[in-house]
Formats: sequence, structure tokens, C-alpha cells
Amino acid sequence: MQFPENKKKLIQLLADGKFHSGTELAETLNISRSAIWKIINSLEESGVEIMAVTGKGYCLKQSLELFDIEIIESYLSDESKALISTIEIYDQIDSTNKHLNDLAHSNSDLTGIFCVAEQQTAGKGRRGREWVSPFGSNLYFSLLWRFDEGPASLSGLSLAIGVAVINALNELGVDDVGLKWPNDIYSQQKKLGGILLEVSGESNGPCSAVIGLGLNMFLSDESAEPIEQDWTDLKRIQVDKPQISRNQLLACLMTEMLQVSKDFTTQTFSAYSKQWRAYDCMQGKQVDVFIGRQTISGVVKGIDDEGLLLLQDSSGKVSHYASGEVSFSKS
Ligand code: BTN
Repeated sequence: MQFPENKKKLIQLLADGKFHSGTELAETLNISRSAIWKIINSLEESGVEIMAVTGKGYCLKQSLELFDIEIIESYLSDESKALISTIEIYDQIDSTNKHLNDLAHSNSDLTGIFCVAEQQTAGKGRRGREWVSPFGSNLYFSLLWRFDEGPASLSGLSLAIGVAVINALNELGVDDVGLKWPNDIYSQQKKLGGILLEVSGESNGPCSAVIGLGLNMFLSDESAEPIEQDWTDLKRIQVDKPQISRNQLLACLMTEMLQVSKDFTTQTFSAYSKQWRAYDCMQGKQVDVFIGRQTISGVVKGIDDEGLLLLQDSSGKVSHYASGEVSFSKS
């Protein structure tokens, strides 16, 4: 969904994070001050945090860099552009992954489609969790890609995408980041982002994959209240460093994601496993792995060549795990 024209114009005017009086906004948009007030209310309902100060006007609590297709494209190479069929940008959507899954079901030939949203109203995390997705300040996007082989050939794809995400962050000067098996982007033992891979298709192929990424750039404590895990955002980990352009980071992540997806096959994960191990932030750590109702404690010994988690128990035995939720042991 796109916001109505005046709501969009108002958020663009306020995006600089400075005060704007009701009179100035009303004159610029050529509408009444009470109409401005109504739009301000509807923006607050969309999760935009706005301060109203008598005598000064309205101001966003946090300045915003809204998505701009021209800026995004200016950061994409011709090679990346050739791999992309469409970039859809929404002001608000239920879930970018859901939207692309629906598209894939309606036409299984589609590929190279990015869906990007300023806000998700039903952002999906792994294991049925909600992905907190307030307006305008983080990244939520998905890529629909068609693969010639079946879903089994994509084992390791989500881990390889993790490597792509760290590479993109490193390129823009964000160093203090790593990967937590299987699909989390971590910094200082807190979650910065997550990847959700959803695959549909026949077992012997071809298949469609929707690769979704949520990355916290700025999350207010208020918005983050529902999050049960330790979390962080780029603003908190990049203190004293210049703010990263949201459009540039998006383009960089798109580029890296395309490079992984464009020729990923069963054998490809081995090409990323060395980098994955270098980015592994759980190596050697004591953890608990939750599989269904079972909890297994042990020390992480990295991943095997297929991307399975290696966990050493207290007897010294190392087991391989294909799925499970891992958390750092508190003790
Ligand atoms: C996780 O739980 O770690 C995975 C989070 C994935 C969130 C992203 S945000 C963009 C895309 N759309 C969704 O609904 N989810 C993914």
C-alpha cells in the first residue's frame, strides 16, 4: 500500500528531523491546519514518533531517510540491474516475504523481484515470531529468485546469504558484526538482523525462494518493546561513526544477495563456508540448543561443510544439527 499523497508529502517534509510549524506545513501542502493535525495523528498510528511543541510545531523524534528508487539505482551496477526484473517499494505492507510468496504462487516463472517496505504490519520472523517493523527507520526487504533445481539444492543458501549481509555491512564500514547460526546477524552478542528463507516448488525442481532480510538501523526502545531477544541496531553499534545511507545500504545488500543467488546450486555452499566460519560469533561458546521440547547444552565447534551446526557435549562427543534455536548460555 502507498500512503495518500498528502500523508507522503508531510512525512517527506518532516523527514529532516527539524521543527515545522502547523502553519508552514498547511501552507506548503495547501490544506488546513486541522487537516495537518489529522495526518499527524495517522502517521503516529503508523508508528512514526512525532513531537508536538507549542510555539514550535511538529518534529520527528528521529530524522528519516526514506527510500528513493533513483538513489537506490544510482548505487546498483549494470550487472545487478540486469539481474533485477522489478524493485517494488511500499510505504506499508503486511510482509514483504508474504507478498513475494503470493506472487510466486500466482506465477512460478517470476524471478529477480525485490519487495522493499518502509513499514511491515505483519513482519514475519523465524519460528512464527513477529518481526518488529516500524515505519521508515530500518530495512525490511525480500528477493524472489527462481532456481532450476529443487528445494533440497538450497540447503546452505540462507547461510550464504548471511555471508553476503556481513560483506555488505563491512563494505560500508560496519565491522563489529558476525553470524549466529543459522540465520542471525549479530553484534556484541545482540541481534542486529535476521534472514527468513521460504522455498516453494516441486521436490525435483525447479523452485522459487523468497529471501527476506530485516536489519535494524534505528529502533526506539518503545518500538522494540515486544522483542524478547537481546537486540541492537546500527545506530547503537556505530556510535561516533557517520550515519550510513539507508538507500546505499539497501543497494549494497541487494547487490551481495544477487551475487549469491544468481548461480547457487547444491555444491555452492562450500564456496562460502570459509567466510561463514570467519564471521561465526558462536565459535567456542557455551550454548543451549532448543529442538522442540528438548534442550541440548554444549560448546559450538562451528559448522560442517553442509552448514550444519557442530556441538560438543560434556563427554566430548560432537553432533551435527540441521535445525534448532541456539542461545548463549547465561551461566
Ligand atoms: C528472524 O526471525 O531472524 C528472521 C527475520 C526476517 C525478517 C524479514 S523483514 C523482511 C522480510 N519480510 C518478513 O515478513 N520477514 C522478513
